Amino acid sequence: MEQRDIRNLALIGFMGTGKSTAGQMAARFLGFEFLDTDQLIEERAGRTIPEIFEQAGETVFRELESQVIELVGQESGKVISTGGGVGANSDHVASLKKHSLVVCLWANPETIYRRVSAQGNRPLLECEDPKGRIHQLLEERSPFYRQADVLLSTELRPLRDVASLLCRHFREAQEECRNSKSAV
Ligand code: S3P
Repeated sequence: MEQRDIRNLALIGFMGTGKSTAGQMAARFLGFEFLDTDQLIEERAGRTIPEIFEQAGETVFRELESQVIELVGQESGKVISTGGGVGANSDHVASLKKHSLVVCLWANPETIYRRVSAQGNRPLLECEDPKGRIHQLLEERSPFYRQADVLLSTELRPLRDVASLLCRHFREAQEECRNSKSAV
């Protein structure tokens, strides 16, 4: 791995891949604080994500998202869970890599559909054919998600195991990072 400054663990990936749940568990295991970029956006805007989409539109939401990605660059000792659109933007992935090990959580479209239908609250899927939209968005976004340092499937794996694997990847990457620094 090239010399990196790995202070945080950042999670990218599609809606419903378990970023928040596995991220919160991983934060507990690592003794880190948990941050959620959607939550930061809501706090800064004083509105919920569906309200922002409805009242201001997706473009404004994406601008707020960019501001928050810039802000989290100052963090250390955090698990940073991101909204599904963050990992679909090369600049954002590159920005996260400046301070974090970036892990993309993965799931099949059918699993995603099942999980998000149970949760609701996703403006992008408020359409006639949410299943089709998931397939289409996943296809468009896959090349970007693949820019992560690690791709981790959440299929057939309890989220607790996902969280343990996240910690293992993070510790290994930090170790690697320390070794490459001391070798210079
Ligand atoms: C979005 C995913 C959502 C939220 C917003 C847009 C996306 O976050 O940021 O509704 O573009 O995929 P989750 O991935 O946490 O659901």
